Amino acid sequence: MSPVATGWHCAVCGAKVSIGEVFSWRCPNSSESDRHHLLELENSIAPLRSNGDPNPFVAFQRYLAWDAFAAALGIEVDERTKMIRDLDDSVAQVAGTGFRFTPFSRHDRLSAELGFAANGGVWIKDETGNVAGSQKARHLFTELLHLVAVEQVGRAPWASRAERPALAIASCGNAAIAASTLARALEWKIKVFVPEHADEPTLKILRSLDADAVRCPRSSTDPPGDPCVFRFREAVAAGAIPFGVQGPENAWCLDGGRTIGWEMAVIAEDLPGSLISRMFVQAGGGAFVTCAAAGFFAGATKPKIHAVQTEGCAPLARAFDRAEQTGGARNAGPRWSQCMWPWEATPVSLADGILDDETYDWIGACNAMADSGGSPVVASEELVRESFAIAHRVTDIDVSPTGAAGLAGLLAKRHEIADDERVVVIFSGVRRQ
Ligand SMILES: Cc1ncc(COP(=O)(O)O)c(C=O)c1O
Ligand SMILES: [Zn+2]
Repeated sequence: MSPVATGWHCAVCGAKVSIGEVFSWRCPNSSESDRHHLLELENSIAPLRSNGDPNPFVAFQRYLAWDAFAAALGIEVDERTKMIRDLDDSVAQVAGTGFRFTPFSRHDRLSAELGFAANGGVWIKDETGNVAGSQKARHLFTELLHLVAVEQVGRAPWASRAERPALAIASCGNAAIAASTLARALEWKIKVFVPEHADEPTLKILRSLDADAVRCPRSSTDPPGDPCVFRFREAVAAGAIPFGVQGPENAWCLDGGRTIGWEMAVIAEDLPGSLISRMFVQAGGGAFVTCAAAGFFAGATKPKIHAVQTEGCAPLARAFDRAEQTGGARNAGPRWSQCMWPWEATPVSLADGILDDETYDWIGACNAMADSGGSPVVASEELVRESFAIAHRVTDIDVSPTGAAGLAGLLAKRHEIADDERVVVIFSGVRRQ
């Protein structure tokens, strides 16, 4: 079975990039002064089938852009599978687990709690047991595979492991932990740009993984936006490898992130009775909702996508409205400056993992909502607290407030949802204390 991805194109300027291009992190027209570009994948996946392997990167290997990339570099299919397995083994040594299908099923108690009928209900996708405790490592694994493939065929510009440039990421939470876990698996140096007041439990984990955490205070000389992202971009300009979970900074994060959606899609396809009608996904930078939706849509069902933000930081909901008013929420990339800009107020919420000043992957998120007849949801802080409380009272999943924030979106919309609808929430990250 051959790979399905054929190339990339920029959702903003239309530039094309071939699938075999090495280090194709960003659109060729993206620059220091103009980051408003985003590479999107060209592929057609039909029908979506798992090959039954417990590792999702093997089960869905041929749908990965990475598989097409590595094939274009001349690596044979069995060798490609072996590369996934070897890297997964290395990750498992650090993380205590490799990549496996994560649980996805109807939660009877939560469904009853929210008043759903027996033929409707709430399906929970539980990412808390994923590598590094959240969905983030899924996005990063295809970036790491890309680097490993380039090294394997001798196309890396560095002469030895010792001369590898450092990896770099801007994050204070799960993405930083996931990136540092994956970097550690290959003993690759990593710089993590964290906010000035990053929390101690996260810093402790980063230190234990040998990551170099760099604090980034807000500076009056910076433009509006996240100082961690500015310092990250400076590091990349100076030669570091972008190793984050924001599509405009490294489009390869949008490849592996889809495994979560594919896992749900193959189960949803076999459900007797009615289809899954909606999926609620908490959105910070927006790569997660983009990928979960793209993955799900590759199957037979297209649930309405609801990207969930909190009232303390909702630039995506604003962008969706702006896009609708300026020509439509679909393919709004060329209207970036009209639609998406950093949230003006200091973002605050109990769900502190989704407080990105900007929804970097707003184009994919808006496309997913527009394509499915979905919409953004801005949950009140009260519902964020309630969703966290309900999650802990009704399920035994040790989810964080951020990880349960999709449920806050469901609570906000519940009155519009019929009792026999089937809906999905993703418990995306484990609680850390
Ligand atoms: C647990 C958890 N869920 C969801 C998200 C949101 O993902 P994204 O930033 O890709 O929108 C994050 C991001 O930090 C997270 O940590
Ligand atoms: Zn472009």
